[in-house]
Amino acid sequence: PTPIIFDTDPGVDDAQAIAIALAHPDIELLGLTTTYGNVDIETATHNALLLSELAQQEIPVAQGAAAPLVKPKHPAPAHIHGANGLGNIELPAVRGKALDMSAAEFIVSQVNARPNEITLVAVGPVGNLAAALQLDPGIIDKVKQVVIMGGSIREGGNVTPVAEANMFNDPHAASRVLTAGWPLTLVGLDATHRCVLSPADMDKIAGAQGKLGQVLAGSYRFYSDFYRGALGIDGCCPHDSCALAWLMKPELFTTARGHLTVATEGYAEGQTIFAPEGRPFLGEHWSSTPAVEVCLNANGEAVVSWMLEVL
Ligand code: BDR
Ligand code: CA
Repeated sequence: PTPIIFDTDPGVDDAQAIAIALAHPDIELLGLTTTYGNVDIETATHNALLLSELAQQEIPVAQGAAAPLVKPKHPAPAHIHGANGLGNIELPAVRGKALDMSAAEFIVSQVNARPNEITLVAVGPVGNLAAALQLDPGIIDKVKQVVIMGGSIREGGNVTPVAEANMFNDPHAASRVLTAGWPLTLVGLDATHRCVLSPADMDKIAGAQGKLGQVLAGSYRFYSDFYRGALGIDGCCPHDSCALAWLMKPELFTTARGHLTVATEGYAEGQTIFAPEGRPFLGEHWSSTPAVEVCLNANGEAVVSWMLEVL
């Protein structure tokens, strides 16, 4: 199996992705690390604990970033994921509690314990990855790979005309993480907007996932109301699950290599700017950072079929 640490701000689509990570026989979920983003940090940690308990798997949870690195924290947008992050549905009580170490400490200790084995999958603002890099830059050469749901290359943004939410919520952290020089793939809106999980798909998942399925289905209804209003589609984009789909089924995605810049201020704040490798752009900046891989497209139907198969 592929050992992963899943960094998350659950979040309706995060919850779907956590369910996939828990269910997939070839994924070894070492831990959930939580970040502020869709919800505040305490709610994110609560939801991470709850989701793994509902799946009857006690996965270690380490709490992380409560706010962005530099910019002021803005309140989580309750109309997208609900005030409780899970569509405002009533939730059962949580029994367990988070580890006695921070998300960054957990990442650093796991990666050092299993050099070149662990993949970091991050599907929220990436402050925990930035903190882990600061704590121990040596992990750059010890992680197997880093997969990030975030950004947009040609698709435009979802919180501003140019910025995707995870990048916008902590652009300074994103800038450090995307240019750190580790093997990294960005799975952004160019891929995730090709994938739509329909109400019928969600009925199948709910039926197959027991207690966890009820939470996934209930929160899905709230999230898909947002999509109907915002994008006019019937269903929702399972953004965060796409990061796992890329990890397990890369052949379903079109990718390119190049250099990434994240704008940290002004109107472009949170925008990911991609300079394809080998293009002679004016100015050294565009090729001075280590090259990474970005997703430019996805076979949406096949990706969603994969998700249904796993769940
Ligand atoms: C990303 O933003 C969050 O709201 C979702 O959970 C996903 O990680 C999509 O832009
Ligand atoms: Ca997320």
